[in-house]
Amino acid sequence: MNLLIMGLPGAGKGTQAAKIVEKFGIAHISTGDMFRAAIANQTELGLLAKSYMDKGDLVPDEVTNGIVKERLGQADVKEKGFLLDGYPRTLEQAQVLDTILKELDLKLDAVINIEIESSKLVERLSGRIINRKTGETYHKVFNPPADYKEEDYYQREDDKPEAVKRRLEVNIAQGQPIIAYYRQQNLVHDIQGDQEIDNVFKDVSQTISGLK
Ligand code: AP5
Ligand code: MG
Repeated sequence: MNLLIMGLPGAGKGTQAAKIVEKFGIAHISTGDMFRAAIANQTELGLLAKSYMDKGDLVPDEVTNGIVKERLGQADVKEKGFLLDGYPRTLEQAQVLDTILKELDLKLDAVINIEIESSKLVERLSGRIINRKTGETYHKVFNPPADYKEEDYYQREDDKPEAVKRRLEVNIAQGQPIIAYYRQQNLVHDIQGDQEIDNVFKDVSQTISGLK
């Protein structure tokens, strides 16, 4: 099964993606996670990505398309299927993705679109905490870890207020044409994102299980 998960920053893409890949056994491909890993490893790609990400801007398409193409070409993708999270983010990326998939003889089965009002997202992003060891995402209020110790968790650099504002602006502007592009192809499944995490997952899970 080959899926995309879409939604504004903080909609819950990463949270749902972790549950989807666990249940359905497909490969999780998150461009944001790939860039953050490159930043942590202080590679050239990381250095470049950081200069855009910290401001809340998109990394240039040619860079992002390149890493996605390379990742989609790896063997596990063909074997297990994939869930793309955070890509495509521009209409150009969506068109490039079509070309990449054609070249690799892969087909997209569905787009999971997590819908939520943008006014709810600042609260989600400002309370997000990530476990330093496991990389798992939690929320101080909405999804607190059982054994919370402040020193075991960090906050993302781009969850600071100025970057959040910019990320929301950029993603609201760029996201609509992409959803329209996939609606035309009858691939979009809308999911109500303003419910508890487990209830969102019930809906997501039901949708994926219902795909032919
Ligand atoms: P990326 O890492 O993709 O970030 P994003 O799209 O801004 O989305 P987030 O990861 O912030 O949100 P999410 O939807 O995953 O929410 P989460 O599940 O964590 O991209 C970061 C940057 O990388 C971009 O700005 C750009 O610079 C660059 N980049 C990445 N891809 C790119 C591309 N294709 N092209 C160019 N540049 C690219 O949840 C958020 C919080 O809410 C958590 O604390 C969580 O616990 C909580 N939460 C989740 N669900 C619920 C719920 N149902 N109820 C209550 N709380 C919830
Ligand atoms: Mg995410």
